[in-house]
Amino acid sequence: MAIVKLSVIGCGYLGAVHASCMADLGHEVVGIDVDAAKVAQLNAGEPPFHEPGLGEVLRRALDSGRLRFSTDMADAASARVHFVGVGTPQQQGSYAADLTYVDAAIDALVPHLHAGSDGPAVVAGKSTVPVGTAARLAEKIGDAGVLAWNPEFLREGFAVQDTVAPDRLVYGLPGDDAKAAVARDALDAVYASILERGTPRLTADYASAELVKVAANSFLATKISFINAMAEMCEVTGADVSFLAEAIGHDDRIGKKFLKAGIGFGGGCLPKDIRAFMARAGELGAEQSLTFLREVDSINLRRRQHVVNLTVHALEGRVPGKPVAVLGAAFKPHSDDIRDSPALDVASRLSGLGAKVRIVDPAAGPVLRRVRPDLDVRDSAHDAVAGAHVVLLLTEWPEFRDLDPVELGESVEHRTIIDGRNVLDSAAWRAAGWTYIGLGRP
Ligand code: UDX
Repeated sequence: MAIVKLSVIGCGYLGAVHASCMADLGHEVVGIDVDAAKVAQLNAGEPPFHEPGLGEVLRRALDSGRLRFSTDMADAASARVHFVGVGTPQQQGSYAADLTYVDAAIDALVPHLHAGSDGPAVVAGKSTVPVGTAARLAEKIGDAGVLAWNPEFLREGFAVQDTVAPDRLVYGLPGDDAKAAVARDALDAVYASILERGTPRLTADYASAELVKVAANSFLATKISFINAMAEMCEVTGADVSFLAEAIGHDDRIGKKFLKAGIGFGGGCLPKDIRAFMARAGELGAEQSLTFLREVDSINLRRRQHVVNLTVHALEGRVPGKPVAVLGAAFKPHSDDIRDSPALDVASRLSGLGAKVRIVDPAAGPVLRRVRPDLDVRDSAHDAVAGAHVVLLLTEWPEFRDLDPVELGESVEHRTIIDGRNVLDSAAWRAAGWTYIGLGRP
């Protein structure tokens, strides 16, 4: 495999993983980020966030001498392919994506783009962007380099695996055939070892490649809100949504994955991506095409309030001063990410109602202590549940799923558990004397 010199601009979840994995595959990589503390941490071999397996890959790549991180964009100058993986958060007070970081990265990079013996430098956009962004950025880059759009589909918690063994690679290429060939060949060289394994590689125009990412995330969000809407129907009919999901999932046109009803989706991608997609559709005069996503979003947010209502009901309406244990703060297990986390949202709403919320999360605990000093963060589930009038399981960490209801029952004030993720063995908890409340389950 030919070694390619790469830069990765933006070393957040996406960039830090991409830089580490590409160096581990054998390429020579420099990761660039404006945050000096993050760069120092990465150079010391410490991932700035919790991601299984990343520490090992990062340290192996640093030890090989093929990976380093820098705050100086000039260090990217000798690279042939420049990946851009900076954040595109939701704008304050609007649904639209904030493209400030993408534009800043491209503006800073362009003066450092140089043609090499293999031809012009290739800029490969990875950030999730509103459709039309790549065409605009290509104008900005002009003749300084060739732009490709190469969306990333990694899931937090499986980021390393998803990067080195993706389901598919998608390249959005320029309309000009010669430029398209340059971009395609450069990306093929970067991903040679992945392509050798037969990974599907799909090429298209910029707009189609940009849309693949938001369409995939919209579909996943819709699937989750669909099953949560069915959970609402189960709640008014006494039916069981877990059974329903399994039974419809046997139809392989539907499939069993992403049909877990509960407190809904969160994180740094699905919520903001569907909102930015709606905003972009509005700008393009196609608002109607995506109005269903508005419903997907509101079904999702309704689940959070539903859990708050169930808790208030369990406390017989007397919330102020009542100890409530919240197990989980991250938006999903195996992550310390609390961005738009349903678990943290529910905990905050209960705290706002005056409950004495004690929250615990195996990975997000330290993050919470830093950014939410208002919350009572505990170190263990046993500590959080002591004296609790109700226990809420909101992030399905294995250590919470495996809790012993008999042992836990000895330290609570009232044996009431709300299973926000429908992962506990309801029969075992009931047998241990608990009032078990699942979502969309009788
Ligand atoms: C998602 C996409 O899966 C990934 O392909 C894309 O690149 C980025 O966005 P991620 O945000 O890491 O990845 O999380 P994901 O595993 O998709 O879960 C998103 C949320 O949905 C979590 O809060 C999770 O708890 C929730 N979820 C997922 C459900 O509520 N039910 C399910 O059945 C599945």
